[in-house]
Amino acid sequence: MIKIAVLVSGSGSNLQALIDANLSGAIVGVISNKPEAYALERAQKSGIATAVIEHKQYPNREAFDDVMHQQLLDWGVDLVILAGFMRILSAKFVQAWEGKMINIHPSLLPNYKGMHTHQRVLNTGDVMHGCTVHYVTAELDAGQALAQAVLKVNLHDTADSLANRVHVLEHLIYPQVAEWICNGTIQHTQRGVLYRGKPMLEAIQFCKF
Ligand code: GRF
Repeated sequence: MIKIAVLVSGSGSNLQALIDANLSGAIVGVISNKPEAYALERAQKSGIATAVIEHKQYPNREAFDDVMHQQLLDWGVDLVILAGFMRILSAKFVQAWEGKMINIHPSLLPNYKGMHTHQRVLNTGDVMHGCTVHYVTAELDAGQALAQAVLKVNLHDTADSLANRVHVLEHLIYPQVAEWICNGTIQHTQRGVLYRGKPMLEAIQFCKF
C-alpha cells in the first residue's frame, strides 16, 4: 500500500477531501510549517500523525527542507501531496521527491503560475478558469499536468467567489489523481508519465459549466 504524506500550511480543505476519499493508499502523516494551521486539527481528528516543522526556526530553506525530508523518510513515504503548502521547496528536496510529489494549483496551468490567480483571471477578463494537479519539478508550477478542472467565469464573480468555486473542483480532482497514483493508473516512469500504461500526452480534463 502506498504511503502518503500531505504537506499543508492552512485550512486543509484539500487534506479533508483526501481523507474523506478513503484512498487505497494510506495517509501516514501530515506536515505543517505553521503550528496554527487548521489542517493539523483535521489530521488529528482522523488519527493521522502530524509534525510541525516551523521554517522560521531554521537558518535557510535547505536546512528546513532537510528536516522535512528526514520526517518523510521516517514515515516511509512513497507519495508527497502538497495541499496549500505555502513554501517554495529547495532544488535538492524537489529532486529527491521528483516523480513522487504532486501539487494542486488554482489556475489552468501554464496560465497564472504563482499567487493571486483568481484576481489575475478577473483582471484579464478570462472566460475560463480552474485548477491543475501536477507533478512538482524545480521550476515553480511547471511540472507535468495530470488533471485539470475547468469552470466558466460568471459576470458577477469576485476573487473570493472564484476561490470558492475553484475549491469545489479541487476537492473533486485532487483525490481522484491521488487515487490514480495509488492504484497505478498513473505511473511516473523512466519513459515519462503513463496513464493506463500509455504515455500521458495531456492532462485529464474535468469540466463544470
Ligand atoms: C488551494 O486553493 C490550492 O489550490 C492552493 O492552496 C489552497 C489550499 O487550500 N495550492 P486548503 O488549505 O486545502 O483549503
